[in-house]
Amino acid sequence: MPPTPPNPSIPSPELGPALQALIARADSALDAVLPGEDQPPQALHRAMRYAVLGGGKRLRPLLVYAAARALGHDGPALDASACAVELIHAYSLVHDDLPAMDDDAMRRGRPTCHIVFGEAMAILAGDALQALAFEVLARDDGDSIDPARRAAMLLALGRACGADGMAGGQALDLAAVGQRLTLAELERMHTLKTGALIRASVRLGALAAGAGEAALAALDRYAAAVGLAFQVRDDILDVEGDSAVLGKTAGKDAAADKPTFSSIIGLDASRTRLADLTDEALAAIAPFGAQAELLRELALYAAHRAR
Ligand code: IPE
Ligand code: IPE
Ligand code: MG
Ligand code: MG
Ligand code: MG
Repeated sequence: MPPTPPNPSIPSPELGPALQALIARADSALDAVLPGEDQPPQALHRAMRYAVLGGGKRLRPLLVYAAARALGHDGPALDASACAVELIHAYSLVHDDLPAMDDDAMRRGRPTCHIVFGEAMAILAGDALQALAFEVLARDDGDSIDPARRAAMLLALGRACGADGMAGGQALDLAAVGQRLTLAELERMHTLKTGALIRASVRLGALAAGAGEAALAALDRYAAAVGLAFQVRDDILDVEGDSAVLGKTAGKDAAADKPTFSSIIGLDASRTRLADLTDEALAAIAPFGAQAELLRELALYAAHRAR
């Protein structure tokens, strides 16, 4: 059985105390929903826990909580959504790092799941994390969410990670290797591979908070901008970031000949696009006033983060 080195979450100094507390809340909710390492099949459970716990900025769970706060809502029912989006994200990273995809050996400051547990177990861990995400979201723990709203939340998550969302975006990413994409094609790819799950995170938080159509639409404008900005920043960091800070190997996009924001429009224009997207995100949540403070903080963090 491979060892599972501990790697406690690295606090992000850029985030304020309220968001730091929500990271701790998400971490403990994730710990509680993941199967124990001592339960068989132990190797699978260890690989699942390794992929999810320890490291990770928890941006998607934070967006769930922050979207609900923008509507003046909080409560234990949000934890299921926070876990679901992070479980999907962790699964997507495990598969993204596989030799057949990006072939990355480092993630969140330590060896990738397949390096520690082998490719077959990493594939299965990803499969099981995806299934667990839907199980956690579908489970009625006696919370305040009515069945129709829960179905809408499941639908949003399913769309976000399927062929019209993350998996579709990943397919476009693989097909783009060595190609010259237009800026519109690149934005389409990023919108799917990264943006869809970020949008779903905000939508789940808003639905759990009982949002009506107008609030959902405004929050979706915010989330679409933040989702794209987040991947623009990821592309910039791949060029100018430091592997030790990033916790993953910098320079991989150019080495793999992947079209990115920086390769298509250059670093300066990428930074301008990032600033415009951040302005769009902040404008979309202006009507929520002070209640949207955490969403505001997260939009700025997505654009300026160092890892
Ligand atoms: C990395 O996501 C993959 C992308 C979608 C760009 P994050 O940068 O959120 O990764 P963690 O969760 O903090 O490790
Ligand atoms: C990954 O994008 C997006 C998903 C996992 C869905 P990248 O391949 O750019 O992410 P990193 O740079 O490996 O974190
Ligand atoms: Mg990738
Ligand atoms: Mg990758
Ligand atoms: Mg990247």
